[in-house]
Amino acid sequence: MTTFAPPLSAEELVTKPMPQRPLGHLGWNASLLTLGGVKWDVKCSDTEAVALVHRAIELGVNTFDTAHAYGEGESERKLGLALEGIRHRYWVETKIGDRTYDGAKRQFETSLKRLRTDYVDLLFVHSLDTDDQREQIMQAESVLKALEEYRAAGNIRYIGVSGHWVRDVMLRILGEHRFDAVLFPVGLFNAAYDYSFLDTVLPFARSKEMAVLGMKIYGAGRIKQAKSLAPYLRYSIQQDIDTAVIGMDSIAQLEDTIRILKSDPGPISDAEVRALYPEAIAITQEWDEHEFSWVQGYKIP
Ligand SMILES: NC(=O)c1ccc[n+]([C@@H]2O[C@H](COP(=O)([O-])OP(=O)(O)OC[C@H]3O[C@@H](n4cnc5c(N)ncnc54)[C@H](OP(=O)(O)O)[C@@H]3O)[C@@H](O)[C@H]2O)c1
Repeated sequence: MTTFAPPLSAEELVTKPMPQRPLGHLGWNASLLTLGGVKWDVKCSDTEAVALVHRAIELGVNTFDTAHAYGEGESERKLGLALEGIRHRYWVETKIGDRTYDGAKRQFETSLKRLRTDYVDLLFVHSLDTDDQREQIMQAESVLKALEEYRAAGNIRYIGVSGHWVRDVMLRILGEHRFDAVLFPVGLFNAAYDYSFLDTVLPFARSKEMAVLGMKIYGAGRIKQAKSLAPYLRYSIQQDIDTAVIGMDSIAQLEDTIRILKSDPGPISDAEVRALYPEAIAITQEWDEHEFSWVQGYKIP
């Protein structure tokens, strides 16, 4: 696989500015790349994970995404280690999977300890993908009540919701509850499977003035089988998203993406996008060990 990125010198990679976009109306200019907390949670040692986060910071990343569940806590723990003493300069978001009031409180207290902080900037209700889950969180004594209490106490600044399977469920919950931010798939893979969130969920979120964060841009890792990284990244960043949340497990992977972002790759045409659909579908028909087959629920056109 090639990145098709114009060559940047080692110095340019550092000195060229990282593109930023306002994160909705949350008062933060987010780096266009948000470093996602999946993969380096389990694939990297503490030393490697800290070096990855520090290199991301050196190259202009100011926004970090993790979750209580990633690597059974390893992602939050390693991020906390990397940001020790400098945490207040960055945007840190995490996610809570428990739908109950008491369970969410237990998870959040543990997350704060792992992250070595007393507040997170954005807390997502994690992976909301079924109507049952939607109904659970709309109960009076649910995770949402716990999160609002933490917000009132200053431990959470903003509250969001994430999901990657069912766009109708996402639309319904965004209509029922006022979230500050939403995270959902915005990859070319979704367009190829004719299961895009961009025509429905995205404009609805914008009509509610939410921050919009995008994921699945590299097909949860299947990008390794593609001819090039660049068109997939270009497709996603030309959408109306505030930041691209992408998982990485090495400095080399991080630099590939930042090299493309800093070289201002320009828009990709509809014809170029459509020409990639066969590849996008072909490389997501099977999954390697430890990969996440998130397209399984989508329909092949
Ligand atoms: N809220 C949710 O429900 C949810 C769910 C999943 C993820 N997320 C967030 O979104 C982030 C991204 O996860 P995702 O599932 O959307 O995955 P993704 O960003 O589409 O793919 C990330 C994977 O792409 C591969 N990759 C990255 N850079 C590469 C490069 N330069 N060359 C080749 N391969 C490269 C790596 O796979 P290998 O590690 O296999 O090399 C990496 O782990 C996560 O880290 C997490 O923060 C949120």
